[in-house]
Amino acid sequence: MRPAEPYLPFTRPSIDEETIAGVAEVLRSGWLTSGPQVKAFEAKVSEHCGGRPVRAFNSGTCTMEIALRIAGVGPGHEVITTPLSWVATSNVVLAVGARPVFVDIDPVTRNIDLDRIEAAITPATRALLPVDLAGLPVDRDRLHDIAHRHRLRVIEDAAQAFGSQWRGRRIGSFGDFVSFSFHPNKNVTAIEGGCLVLNDDREARLAEQYRLQGVVRTGYDGMEVDLVGGKFNLTDVAARVGLGQLPRLEEFTRKRAALARAYFERLGSPAFRALGLGLPVADFNDANWHMFQVMLPGERMDVGRAGVMADLHSAGIGTGVHYPAIHLFSLYRRMGWQDGDFPNAEYAGRNLLTLPLFPAMERTDVDRVAEALAAALSRHVRA
Ligand SMILES: Cc1ncc(COP(=O)(O)O)c(C=O)c1O
Repeated sequence: MRPAEPYLPFTRPSIDEETIAGVAEVLRSGWLTSGPQVKAFEAKVSEHCGGRPVRAFNSGTCTMEIALRIAGVGPGHEVITTPLSWVATSNVVLAVGARPVFVDIDPVTRNIDLDRIEAAITPATRALLPVDLAGLPVDRDRLHDIAHRHRLRVIEDAAQAFGSQWRGRRIGSFGDFVSFSFHPNKNVTAIEGGCLVLNDDREARLAEQYRLQGVVRTGYDGMEVDLVGGKFNLTDVAARVGLGQLPRLEEFTRKRAALARAYFERLGSPAFRALGLGLPVADFNDANWHMFQVMLPGERMDVGRAGVMADLHSAGIGTGVHYPAIHLFSLYRRMGWQDGDFPNAEYAGRNLLTLPLFPAMERTDVDRVAEALAAALSRHVRA
């Protein structure tokens, strides 16, 4: 009998020994919280973003909340966003006292449907908050054109899009606010963390205030507080992890793209097509291949997505759900949203399945996933 293969998770960070040694050095240095490593991390991310001002935070969630605050978004305002995202995307709108206005997704890109945005704009709209799901960029030309014509701020939730581009320009190097996450599942990680790309020094100073209790320090002993900030600063330990990851971004992206190509080869076969499996947009120019998500043929299956996930789990393969439609969570239902409001996002929320994809995976792992998925679908899909 073949020995059992190790469990294949849907994602796993690659942290090298040099980074681990660097973290040990930080731990020995006597300075653990925000300090020189955070400054160096911000400088490197800024370099990646064409020199734009960048500030680091302890999550990608608070970066968006702070961007909304800097943009002056609050009670009585609306922010247009997608219902198919990690719930952080719309929770931050609620956190600043504004109302999210969901616009359904485009079923092909699985990102907010740009054709539907303008119909959702009202006099209360202040900002657009699109998401690059799985690292596939929203059309930045159309997005910024809409924002410009309606005088709206844009907060790009590029949590999943670090390393992605739009027509050859790096995400983060242009636009308005751009928010990245460095959660362990992301293409590069800082354990937990985020960065906000800003427009100018004034915004950068405000970001620093919101990051740490609203404090402004001057001289040796001057301290002033003129706004309510929070506790959102990144530690030097986390920043050192991020610094160890950044030089590997291109290598990671190349590896992810190669694995994605292998998935297309395997899952694009007539057999999978007959089973009704939906594939992502094959973007090998701009996407960073943060995730490889397939659409299960829900209406033809005798089990729900969980049944397919259970079969893959039994075959030693981990999968993920990114994400259930936000407006159907009870918190959001209580605010008035209901089934049928955004049919494309709801279908994706039930049927989208994230397959394993991370830089340390091998081509043989893709083969293994394809075989297990074929077996599961053959078992559960009606002809
Ligand atoms: C689309 C999206 N938005 C926001 C976030 C929030 O980032 P974080 O977990 O760093 O707060 C994430 C990641 O978790 C995400 O995937």
